[in-house]
Amino acid sequence: MLIEAARAVRENAHAPYSRFKVGAAVLAADGKVYVGCNVENIASPEGTCAEAGAIAAMVAAGQREITEVAVIADGPEPVTPCGGCRQKLAEFAGAHVKVTMATLSGTTRVMTVGELLPGAFSVAQMGER
Ligand code: THU
Repeated sequence: MLIEAARAVRENAHAPYSRFKVGAAVLAADGKVYVGCNVENIASPEGTCAEAGAIAAMVAAGQREITEVAVIADGPEPVTPCGGCRQKLAEFAGAHVKVTMATLSGTTRVMTVGELLPGAFSVAQMGER
């Protein structure tokens, strides 16, 4: 299950500053699961989110299409991807793609990429050029 892959990689997160470990997993069109965790940095803007890591792993493997997403963290409610990660997901996932957000204790929430980023900026808005 995708959420179990996210749960496992979350253990590897480097989050000494926020103490908030996040794990993410994306299923790609090749049927493989790519995972990522947050990697914080003492120079805080240099830190990266779990979703960004999973997307980078997928792209590095030559894949360009996400068919499902899972994110997990140890919070009181399921963690939702930050604004930047919503745009990163929308680059490779259609609006219909399911994003399962979960807590370690098992509460889950499911939304689509389109629900997470309504009105997403897309290439269609640029017209002909
Ligand atoms: N974080 C993620 O990795 N993904 C999310 O969806 C939300 C937030 C990370 C960034 C930072 O390392 C920590 O959680 C606290 O914001």
